[in-house]
Amino acid sequence: MTKRKVNIIGAGLAGLSASIHLAQQNVPSRLISLQPSERAQSVMAEGGINAAINTMGENDEPLNHYNDTLKGGAFLADENAVWSLTQNAPHIVEWLCSLGVPFNMKGNTLVLRNFGGQKKKRTAYSKSSTGKILMSALIDEARKYEAQGLIKRYPHHQLTEFIINDEVCEGVKITDLYTGNTGKLYGAVIVCTGGMNSLFPEMTTGTAVNTGDVTAQAFSQGVALANLEFIQYHPTTAAIPGKRMLISEAARGEGGRLFIYKDNKPFYFMEEKYPELGNLMPRDVVSREMAALGEQVYLDMTGIDSEVWKSRLFDLQEECIRLLGKDPQKEYIKVSPGIHYFMGGIDVDEQHRTNLSGLYAAGECACQYHGANRLGGNSMLGAIYGGSVAANMAADYVKTVDYKDSEWTENNSCNLLYDYAVNDEIAEIMKNALGIFRDKQTLEKAVSDLEAKAGAKMMTDVFANRYLLVKAMLLSALNREESRGAHTRTDFPEKDDEHFRKTTVVKCSGFDITLSMRDIAERRAD
Ligand code: FUM
Repeated sequence: MTKRKVNIIGAGLAGLSASIHLAQQNVPSRLISLQPSERAQSVMAEGGINAAINTMGENDEPLNHYNDTLKGGAFLADENAVWSLTQNAPHIVEWLCSLGVPFNMKGNTLVLRNFGGQKKKRTAYSKSSTGKILMSALIDEARKYEAQGLIKRYPHHQLTEFIINDEVCEGVKITDLYTGNTGKLYGAVIVCTGGMNSLFPEMTTGTAVNTGDVTAQAFSQGVALANLEFIQYHPTTAAIPGKRMLISEAARGEGGRLFIYKDNKPFYFMEEKYPELGNLMPRDVVSREMAALGEQVYLDMTGIDSEVWKSRLFDLQEECIRLLGKDPQKEYIKVSPGIHYFMGGIDVDEQHRTNLSGLYAAGECACQYHGANRLGGNSMLGAIYGGSVAANMAADYVKTVDYKDSEWTENNSCNLLYDYAVNDEIAEIMKNALGIFRDKQTLEKAVSDLEAKAGAKMMTDVFANRYLLVKAMLLSALNREESRGAHTRTDFPEKDDEHFRKTTVVKCSGFDITLSMRDIAERRAD
């Protein structure tokens, strides 16, 4: 057996995809994660995965998917990356079918559903539990390679540090959360750790396990981050204890309608204002409209055909009954926007390379596909496709490097380092400053509140890293003096292409953060 040369941090869709694509090239990897794959946030994804496979007779093609993705992202995404993503989407769905994913079908044909920001039906799905179903398929596929020794899993392990020398990432230091044993694992590194949800407790559809700590650690060690100001509020979420329950966009894709009461009658405000896409405008637009109304918004799913409930939305109906005590087939559901996705993250190029050699990132923790706002259905696509691209790059890279053997130190005491709880004070600051609407005064106050609170707590690395990450988010939002995608500045309500159709890049050195704006990668001619 050849030496393991790639460490993948995070075992959701992007991490599994990376490990499988490495194994297919006979490159052994380690799959390191706080939780086993079965508990990754990818399991919670609902609505589906986009690919212009044109099975619905609408003359769809990848070029349409490309154009919709760029437009949905307010023209801030890396155009070459989006081109590859959308061109390869049909192959990804084909591959998933070959793994036996039970997508909804009609006879031998994949059925596609409508999703936000897209005029054509383009989203393949498995009821409204697509994430769970895709994860099962990838976990199963990874097990095959695990049996061959090509993938080794390290669940319940925490990354504590990247091993970096002269701008080259040579591996990771990790701790076994059950035994306390620590390891230095040499090899290239692919970060696939998802979003930063737990910086926003109670406000997010995501899991508290996604703290963004690995991103924060990378940042503190010189890895550039990008577009941190773009945080997606999903329009249809409902409060449940400790978090927001996602009511999949699939509900609106299948005919669900948003309304407020006006003169005691439902007023379908999205349909009135946006006759073409109506309730399926991109998420940034819908959430902003809802927030601007300042009134209780309801989701009316009562007009959805009972056959559609049975075959496509059964699990969503079951969840609404179980968690909200409401049957959406018969009753309106109160909804409001909740934090769902982070468009920004580790700054990567089209090939998923970071600014350090030997370090890659894929999935939600990376930044390049979604620009200022992600389209629903592009997240699982970006994770699976991105994992494969990062794997290919890492496979090539490690051919040239002779890594040291891993080193383990026994500790023999259970040493649970992991701290899910985000400091309440940080959470309060984030909540106030990084809502749907932002302004200079609130953002500046948040930065100074954060600086004031930090002082005495800068002792612990985890706190210091989170502090830096949060400060970088606030500074990115403060710097972008325009409104674009998910970033709406009440004091700068217009889009300003001349100064801000650019990627925000942040870097840190010690406790200093520097910010710069980089031109968008325009699409190369074929
Ligand atoms: O609404 C949803 O089902 C979410 C899908 C996504 O974020 O891609």
